[in-house]
Amino acid sequence: MSASEILDGLWYLAALSNELKPGAMLRRVLFGGPVVFGRTKAGEVFALRDVCPHRAAPLSAGRLCEIGGESAVECPYHAWAFRTTDGKCAAIPALHSEEKRDPSTIATKRYGLHEANGLVWIYHGEGMPETPPPDIGLAAGCRPKTVTIVEAKGPFDEAVIGLVDPAHTPTVHKQWWWREGAPRRDKTKNYEPTPLGMKIPAHAPSSNTRIYKFIGGAPTTEIEFRLPSLRLEHIRSGKRRILGLTTMSPTEPGTTRIVHVIFWDFALLDLIMPIAQSMADDFLAQDGAILTLQNDNLSRIDHRPLYFGDADEPAKWYLKLKRAFAQRKENGGFTNPLSPAELRWRT
Ligand code: FES
Ligand SMILES: [Fe+2]
Repeated sequence: MSASEILDGLWYLAALSNELKPGAMLRRVLFGGPVVFGRTKAGEVFALRDVCPHRAAPLSAGRLCEIGGESAVECPYHAWAFRTTDGKCAAIPALHSEEKRDPSTIATKRYGLHEANGLVWIYHGEGMPETPPPDIGLAAGCRPKTVTIVEAKGPFDEAVIGLVDPAHTPTVHKQWWWREGAPRRDKTKNYEPTPLGMKIPAHAPSSNTRIYKFIGGAPTTEIEFRLPSLRLEHIRSGKRRILGLTTMSPTEPGTTRIVHVIFWDFALLDLIMPIAQSMADDFLAQDGAILTLQNDNLSRIDHRPLYFGDADEPAKWYLKLKRAFAQRKENGGFTNPLSPAELRWRT
């Protein structure tokens, strides 16, 4: 496995539900290739390879139509039409009336999608999904309250390591509301393996992190990482619940789209929604900026990273998880290679 390889057999965030309007299409580059996303008038989301098998025109520049009662995308060049349900060609208008050819032998790739909680996930891989789509544990009606999107330059793995790396927080994220000026203290965290990753089970958050004081009560936080690139931070205080979700999707080669979404289920926080949004924007911009700076070096030199001390263990665990998942076929399936562990660091 090369360090920059993108795992298949897993789900990545493709879009937000509200980016996909009924009857409209959206072209997006994912996994280095063009994908057309859309939503039929009936409300179903779909994704096809945005390349017409005929002469490679982008289907997204065409139009959504119906053929024999089924929704299809018509290519803007010669009007070949591809069904949104399976990507098969349903019409080639230029065939003459006695030409007995079957258009349905031609197809563009159709991607598996899963839409829930205002998020649209895409399956990266061939055939039937090997893993279920992400379940983020929210009630069906729960929708994002804040959304932040950053395009960061650099290797995908470096971006993902930022999700599990605890040591950059005091230097990169210096907001007053987080912990500006608060002295570093020794922290001890317990990690447990999970089906696709690892988590720090629910614990009382750092008392030197100010944001938790706003939530009130005796909050607990649970932090989970799942392959390929999903970080979930569940904060609970009594009946109140906040979920911060950060996830990364490979877009153009060497570019990663980082999406951060916050959900909550108590009205009091709605009052500070714009503040929460701008806090999240600042936070993510800081991660994007350091990745882009780091990438300027990485793109010029062949650098071998150093992993040093407990604070760098989660980065090594991510790479270990990734290797084990990449080798699942040779090994007769994926087994999480991690064991429960206790890590200590100063932040
Ligand atoms: S390129 Fe699409 S129909 Fe010809
Ligand atoms: Fe960060």
